[in-house]
Amino acid sequence: MKGSKHPKNDFPLSPAGNETIRDIIARVDVNRRDFLKSSAAASAVAYAGGLSLLAAPQSASAAPIPASNGFAGIGFESIVAQTRPPLGTAVLDRVLVPPGYTAKLLIAWGDPIMPGAPDWSEDATQDAATQAMQYGMHNDGMHYFPFSSRGGLTNDRGVMCVNNEYTHEDILHGATGLNPVSIAKVRKSQAAHGVSIFEVRRIAGNWTVVRNSPYGRRLTSNTPMAVSGPAAGHPLMQSKRFTITPTESTDTGLLTDGFTAFGTINNCAHGYTPWGTYLACEENFNGNFGWNVTDTTAPSAEVTKLQTRYGVTAQGFGYQWHVADPRLNARTNPNETHLFGWNVEVDPYDPTSTPVKRTALGRFKHESSQYAVSADGGGTPNRVAFYQGDDERNEYIYKFVCSAPFVPNNRLANRNILDSGTLYVARFTDTPVSGKPNTYRGEWVPLLPGTIGFGGVALRDNPNFSGANDAEVLAKILIKTRMAGDAVGATQMDRPEWAALRTYTDLPYGVYTEQKPLELYCTLTNNNRRGGGGTISSNNPDGSTAAGGARPPVDVANPRPDNDYGHIIRWREDGNYVTATGFEWDIFVLAGDTLTTKTLAANYLTTNFVPGSGTGPVYQGDIVDFPGGSADFGAPDGLWFDQFGRLWIQTDQIGDASGDFNNVGANVMMCADPNTKEIRRFFTSPNKCEVTGVVNTPDGKAMFVGIQHPGEDSTAASPSQFSNWPQSQFATNSAGAPLPNTPGISRPRSSLVVITKDDGGVIGS
Ligand code: FEO
Ligand code: CA
Ligand code: CA
Ligand code: CA
Repeated sequence: MKGSKHPKNDFPLSPAGNETIRDIIARVDVNRRDFLKSSAAASAVAYAGGLSLLAAPQSASAAPIPASNGFAGIGFESIVAQTRPPLGTAVLDRVLVPPGYTAKLLIAWGDPIMPGAPDWSEDATQDAATQAMQYGMHNDGMHYFPFSSRGGLTNDRGVMCVNNEYTHEDILHGATGLNPVSIAKVRKSQAAHGVSIFEVRRIAGNWTVVRNSPYGRRLTSNTPMAVSGPAAGHPLMQSKRFTITPTESTDTGLLTDGFTAFGTINNCAHGYTPWGTYLACEENFNGNFGWNVTDTTAPSAEVTKLQTRYGVTAQGFGYQWHVADPRLNARTNPNETHLFGWNVEVDPYDPTSTPVKRTALGRFKHESSQYAVSADGGGTPNRVAFYQGDDERNEYIYKFVCSAPFVPNNRLANRNILDSGTLYVARFTDTPVSGKPNTYRGEWVPLLPGTIGFGGVALRDNPNFSGANDAEVLAKILIKTRMAGDAVGATQMDRPEWAALRTYTDLPYGVYTEQKPLELYCTLTNNNRRGGGGTISSNNPDGSTAAGGARPPVDVANPRPDNDYGHIIRWREDGNYVTATGFEWDIFVLAGDTLTTKTLAANYLTTNFVPGSGTGPVYQGDIVDFPGGSADFGAPDGLWFDQFGRLWIQTDQIGDASGDFNNVGANVMMCADPNTKEIRRFFTSPNKCEVTGVVNTPDGKAMFVGIQHPGEDSTAASPSQFSNWPQSQFATNSAGAPLPNTPGISRPRSSLVVITKDDGGVIGS
C-alpha cells in the first residue's frame, strides 16, 4: 500500500546523462553560479537560525517589481530553493519566508475545533468520535469568511473553511497503522476526511483558533447531505440506504430517493460564491471505494463503463473502507459511487445548515471551482460563472453559468441558483488570433441534450445519455460528465488543477476593460502520457476510455511531450462576459528546470510540438526570473490572485527535491506579475510535503497558507522518519499552546501557517 492516498505526480525516470551536478553548475552562467553559492550559504544560516528566514539570494536584481496595469508590484526578493546534496545542504524541515516576514503556526491536524473537543494526542490513539471534533487531516483548499462589521469586513475575525483532502493511514492510527483494518479505523479515517470549519481571531497580534466557538464544525465522510439539481433523484443516484453507527453500516434493504447522501470525500481545492458560501470540491473519490474478491458480480454494463471512466477499481487507493463499511463497496452498492465527484455547497456561518451537492456543476474529479461575475451581452449585471478543472491526465476544463444573475446583499435570494444553468466544456483550438502572437481561439461547448457530438449525433441520441425525456438526458450528462466531454471532442489537458480569476487594483468588482480583461488562469500540473510514450491514443468519443489511460499527441494548448514540469494556461472571455461562448487563450508559463540535461526519450512523439520561448526543447521551460533559473519550479497546482493583482502559484513537486526536482528543490509558493510574467519564490516548505491552500484577510495583511502531508511515505513504526513538522519548527502554536513532540511517538501534521509582514504591511508588497 502506498504511503500516500493521493495519486502521485508523474515522474518518469530518465537519466540526465553522465554529467554530474558540479559539471552542470560549472557550465551555467556566472550569475547562476553566484546564486547557487549564496543559496548554500543561506540555507546553512537559516538552518541554524530562528523561526523566520534569515537569508535570500544575493542577486543584482533585488529591486522591487514595479506596479503596472492593475498589479500592485512585488516588494520581496526571491528566497532560495530547498535542495538536497550535492546542490544544497538539505530540505529543511520548516517553512521559510523572505526577510521581513514571519510565519506562525495556526492550526494542525487533530487540534480541537468543535465545542468540547479534546486536545490532540501525539500517539494518534484517539478514536473516530474525537477526530470528528478536531481539525481533519491533509488540508488543501480553503477560504476565509470575514464577519461583517460597521466599517465593512473584519480583518481580525472570521470563519475558516478548509478541505481535508485525504488521510495518511500509517500515521493516523497509532503505532499499528491501518492493518488489520477494522470499522473503528475506517470510521477514524472517514472522520479525518471532509471539511473543517472554525473561527479564527487575531488577539494582541496573534492569530488563534477560537476554542469552543459555536461556528466550529466538521463535515466528514458520514455527514448527512442533500443532493440537488438536475441529477438529483435519478435512479443512478439512488443507492442502498444504510444506517451508520460507530460500529457498523447496516443495510436497511431500502434504497434512498436520490436526494440525499452521506458525506464528502477527497475534497481537494475549493471554491466560494459571491453570496458567501463555500464549495468543497470532490476529487479522487474513486480511491475511497473498492470491493472484495468474493464480490464477483459486476454491476450493469452501464455502471461498469461509468466506473471505469472514473477510475473505480477493486483496490482503490488502499483505504480498505469497503472491507469494514459495505456502503463504500463499489460492487455491492455501485450507485454510491455516483454520489461523489460533485461540488458541495456549505454555509460557513450556519453550523446547523445541511451541505448540498450541486449536480448542475457536473461530476468529475473536481479540483477547484473559481467564480467570476460580469454583465452579459444584453447588459444584465451580476451574471456568475464557475470555472472548474477535472484533475486527471487528459481530462477537461469546464465552465458552469448560472441561469439567474445573483442578487447582491441578499443571501437567501441566491440559495438555490447553483441548481440551474449551463455546463460547458472547453475546446482550445489552434486558430490564431491575428495581431496577437502565440494567442489562439477557444470555444465553450454546452453539454446539453441537443448538442451535436461524436458521429453527428445529438447527446440525447447517444446511448450513454439515453432517457425518457430531456430532463433525464441532462441528468445522465451530468452524472457522466466526462463521457459528455468525450462525445463533443473537448480538449484533453495536462491535468487541470486550480483555476484563478485575475484581479485588478483599480477596477470595480465585476467590471473589465480591453486592457484589463476578464481573464482566467489554470494550472496544468503535468502529464507524462502527453506525446505517447509508445503509442498515441485519445479519449474514446464513446466514453469507453479507462481513467487516465489515453496518450494524446501534443497540441498547441499542451505543447510539450512528457510534460514533467507542467504549465499555466490562461484565457480571456469574448466581450469580457462570463456568458461568452468563445475566448482567446495563450500560455502564461511553461514551468521547468533551467539546469536540466534530461532529454526526451525516443518513444515520445513530437509531432506538432511547440517549443515555446524557452531555451531548451522540452524540460527547461520559459520562466521569467532574474537571474535566470532563480525561480525554477514545476508541477504548479494551487493558483490564486490576491486582491492586489498578484498571482500566487503553489507546487506539488517531489516533496524531498529528488529525481526531476534535484535542481528545482522542494515545494514552494511563487508570486508572479501577470503583466511581465516575472516570477519570484516567496515560500519554501518542510520535507516531503506539498504547499496547497492560500487565502488572506480583506486588508491583505495576514495570509494563510497550507502545508499538506509533511513526511509523506513515513511508516506507522516510524512516523517521523522524514519530518516532524510543525513540531520541528514551532514550540507553540500562534495561540501560545505548546506542541507535544516526543521522538518516536509524535508525528508530522498537515497544518496551516499564518504569514504577516513585520512592518504590518500587505503580504507581497
Ligand atoms: Fe488533489 Fe488535483 O490535487
Ligand atoms: Ca491539488
Ligand atoms: Ca500531492
Ligand atoms: Ca497535485
